Amino acid sequence: MLTSVVFPPPSLNTGENDFIHADISRCGDLVVDISTTIGPLRLKNPTMLASGIMDEDAGSMQRMIDCGAGAIVTKSIGVQPRDGYANPTVIELDHGILNAMGLPNPGIDLYGEEIKKLQATKVPIIGSIYAADANEFARLAEKMQRFGANAVELNVSCPHAKHYGLEVGSDPALLHEIVSFVKHHVSIPVFVKVSPNIMNLVEMAQTIENAGADAIVAINTVKAMKIDLETTRPLLANKTGGYSGKAIKPIGVRCVYDIAQAVKIPLIGVGGITTGEDAIEYFMAGASAVQIGSAVYYRGPDVFNVVCEEIKTWMKDHEYSTITELIGAAFQ
Ligand code: SIN
Repeated sequence: MLTSVVFPPPSLNTGENDFIHADISRCGDLVVDISTTIGPLRLKNPTMLASGIMDEDAGSMQRMIDCGAGAIVTKSIGVQPRDGYANPTVIELDHGILNAMGLPNPGIDLYGEEIKKLQATKVPIIGSIYAADANEFARLAEKMQRFGANAVELNVSCPHAKHYGLEVGSDPALLHEIVSFVKHHVSIPVFVKVSPNIMNLVEMAQTIENAGADAIVAINTVKAMKIDLETTRPLLANKTGGYSGKAIKPIGVRCVYDIAQAVKIPLIGVGGITTGEDAIEYFMAGASAVQIGSAVYYRGPDVFNVVCEEIKTWMKDHEYSTITELIGAAFQ
């Protein structure tokens, strides 16, 4: 049986979202509450739509909200419109999906119209942004805030975009400058999405925390390639791409586990989460919430509702009543 709870009122434009109804269910004497928080953001459940999937416009994002997503991360948006790479840009492999889209997007001013259309929603909207330097990032973050985003996610981890993503996110001094500059320019929470493709991930996570970020999102895709044996050439037009889906879950869990020991800010796990048990593994590694991307393709848009039900069933069976009890359980 499901009951609803209303959180305390928010204060506007600090990133705190409007009233939301926590997802709480009762099983005999046990009350299972799967709501969670990431700094000031309150999520009715811990499943978020990951950036880059079904988030081209307000209509597709609304559909993910209707399918139970506890928060939405937008497509990564830049200052100017960008076409992205030529096709092929996406290939399904045996154990995951390889993509190199090339950050296609309509630019912040046009995309702002899509965010404005979602203003009535009770679900937090997190604006993903990419840029080459601190000034551009701050400009984008300010616009996201003005359009009504409840937080921004800095994409410093796309593994194949020249001048952007990983090229920015593997330079500690530049990353510190970007995060602190963005923090200085917005009042909404600032999340930073990190890459598994660097050797100094823990040091980078500490840099991000020291620069004032509110949360770390781990991980973006794993840099990868597929070669066509007949043509003898890489299949993607861009040659290299980013690998996502089930195959990368152990990499994501390891990254979250390592970062959790080095920082105090909340972590959001992403990478291969397809089932409720996958999400629980990330909570145990130290994540407060999870993002789902490729599994929208594998299990359909209703994956958010389905994963939430699986999380609740597992929690009931193992007598956990809150997500908080699970976060970092691997360290106890
Ligand atoms: C892309 O647009 O190619 C993917 C973006 C990312 O990996 O962050």
